[in-house]
Parts: sequence; C-alpha cells; structure tokens
Amino acid sequence: MPSAGNVATEYLFIKACRREPVPRTPIWLMRQAGRYLPEYRSLRDRFSFLDLCRNSDAAAKVTVNTVRRLNVDAAIVFADILLPLLPMGLGLTYEKGDGPRVARTVRSAADVDALHHVSVHESLSFVAQTVRLVHRELHGEVPVIGFAGAPFTVASYVIEGGGSRNYVATKSLMYRDSATWHRFMDIIARTTAEYLNMQIDAGAHVVQLFDSWAGALSPQDYRRFALPHSRAVIDALRPGTPVIHFGTMTGSLLPDMRAAGGDVIGLDWRVDLDEAWSRLGYGVGVQGNLDPALLFADRQTIDDAVRDILRGAGGRPGHIFNLGHGILPETPVDNVLHLVEAVHEFSAR
Ligand code: CP3
Repeated sequence: MPSAGNVATEYLFIKACRREPVPRTPIWLMRQAGRYLPEYRSLRDRFSFLDLCRNSDAAAKVTVNTVRRLNVDAAIVFADILLPLLPMGLGLTYEKGDGPRVARTVRSAADVDALHHVSVHESLSFVAQTVRLVHRELHGEVPVIGFAGAPFTVASYVIEGGGSRNYVATKSLMYRDSATWHRFMDIIARTTAEYLNMQIDAGAHVVQLFDSWAGALSPQDYRRFALPHSRAVIDALRPGTPVIHFGTMTGSLLPDMRAAGGDVIGLDWRVDLDEAWSRLGYGVGVQGNLDPALLFADRQTIDDAVRDILRGAGGRPGHIFNLGHGILPETPVDNVLHLVEAVHEFSAR
C-alpha cells in the first residue's frame, strides 16, 4: 500500500509543484471529470452523484478514464469538497441543476453543539478506497491529486444551506458571534485535515485545498476569519506532500493566501499571471489561469490565450497550467483535447 513515500520525484507535475525545472509545462483541469463528457453523463443516468462517489470502483474509473481521454498530467480523485458534511449529520443532497443543498444549516452556538462527531475514516473510507484504486489502475502514469474545501468555503455552504451570492448568513455569524464562528471553523479545519491526510495515506501525491469563495471576503476579514483556519489545515498535513492552495476572485488576497500556506497558489483568470506571480514572489509556484469560457472560442483564440499565459510564466519553474476555475458543463470536448495538446506543444523546451 502506498504511504508517506508517495511523492515520486520523476513526475513532471510534482517537479513543477516543487519548482524544479521541467521539459514542458504540466496541465490538468479543475473539474476535468464532469458533465461536459458524454461518458460521464451516461454514467449519471444510472447513478446519483453521491452514489457515484460512494461506489469506489465506478468513481476510480471516472478518474482514470478522464486522464486517458484528455492526456492530462495529473488525475484528481472523483469526490466532492462537501462530502465531509456527511458524517456531521447535516443532510447533504445534490439536486439536479440546483447544486448542493444542506438541510440542517448551522447558524448558532446550539447548532454547532449539535454536530455529530464521526471520524472521516469510518464514514468516508470510500474516498480512500477510490484513491487506492486510482493509484493502482494508473500504474504510475500520472500522479493523483486529493482535495478538500478550505474551511471558509465549506462553512459558507453549511451556513447558507447551499451556494450563495452575498454570504449574508455566513457573514452575520462571523460578525455577530465570532466565538461560535471560530469554534465552527475549527471543527471544519480538523475534519478537513483528517480527510486530506486520509487521502494522502491512501496514495494521493499532491493535495489541493479549494477556497473557491474566499474572494467574497475583504482582506481584513480573510486574515481574521479564514486564514488561521486554512493555515491550521495546511500545517496539519503530512509533511512532504505538495499543497495547491486555490481560490477565485482573490486578486487582493494573494499575499495572505500565500501566508496561509501552500507550495502552489491557484490563480483565477481575473489576474494577469505574470503580475500575480511577481506579487506573490517566485518562492512559490502558481497554477492557472485560462478563463474556462475561452474553451468556447475558436482554436486560434485558444492558442493565443495559451501563449499569453505561458509567456506570463516566462519559463520559470513552478507553473502548472490549468483553468482559472472549473470546466463548464457545456464545454466542447474537442476544444479541451486541443487545449491539452497546445499546452504540451507550445511549452516544450
Ligand atoms: O474532475 C474533478 O475535478 C472531479 C472532482 C470534483 C468534484 N467537485 C466533483 C463534482 C472536484 C475537485 C469538486 C470540487 C468542488 N465541489 C468545488 C470546488 C471547485 C469549484 O468549482 O469551485 C465546489 C465549490 C464544490 C461543490 C459542488 N459540488 C457544487 C457547487 C456542485 C454543483 C454544481 C456543479 O458545478 O456541478 C457539486 C457537484 C459536483 N461535484 C459534480 C461533480 C462532477 C456534478 C454532479 C453532477 O451533477 O453530476
């Protein structure tokens, strides 16, 4: 069974995470296994999303088939950032077209007291099993990424009961009862660290922490209410496993995200990669940052955008090519295949 020595040094993707020179830029795509793929849609006719996650054989096939179909440089385990809510007993469901719903929202000290404490090892062992199967089926072709949501992003789903535009309930708790806020964030941070370490122990070579909605916070509020908990997660991870720390609309938060931790900072497309990297400092890697909507453009436009991003990275070690956020459901598959080829070709040195 793979364990602490997961980090095979020869993988292009892992070398880039460590800012070692690579012969070409590695690429993978956030949400690379998903509804834009016809084979995923036909699986979803037979399984609900949660049943698919719980069925490790099927989930591992989704991951592995996607890697082979796209020729990307990393696999990401098929799971979700909200699965750790299952053992908390919050009534997590995924509604068609409506995204995740949380039936029992947490908005008070009493709600935090009522949370269940079940270990993720017991309740989410299917995710560890998926990682092990992916690891085995890939025969070392590409490394495996494990992932989780950062505490702020996960908390926002639980407090709002689902996705949100203005995060009013989330920020109300934060501002009105900061002691309860921090207590809740601390529980999520511990669960998240346990969840990620379980994936690392099962064979994940790299982990990504998704703070997708951190950009909703002012820099001051990020530093006060989110950063310490993201840092606690990252500090609790098995040493030696590269961490990618991602968020969107984080242009003003980048130095603070770097301070929270991570070997690589994920950038969305609202920042220029070269400018963002110089602001972060070259002592950290960067991932990104093509606008996912560019995959709806013609090939020449995609190629130009790819060249722009590669030029921004300037051939420095430590760039991983990715979209600036997850791939969109109606994305033409041929353009995704073209993007991967273009990055491989244009970045070859
Ligand atoms: O290829 C992969 O990246 C697969 C693994 C993966 C999923 N979700 C599977 C999934 C990953 C890395 C995620 C991350 C995730 N999940 C994030 C962070 C990334 C981001 O987009 O910001 C967030 C915020 C979630 C929460 C979540 N899960 C939402 C908002 C939704 C519904 C909306 C949507 O984009 O589909 C999900 C469901 C979900 N998670 C699906 C998949 C493949 C779609 C389920 C389906 O309808 O088949």
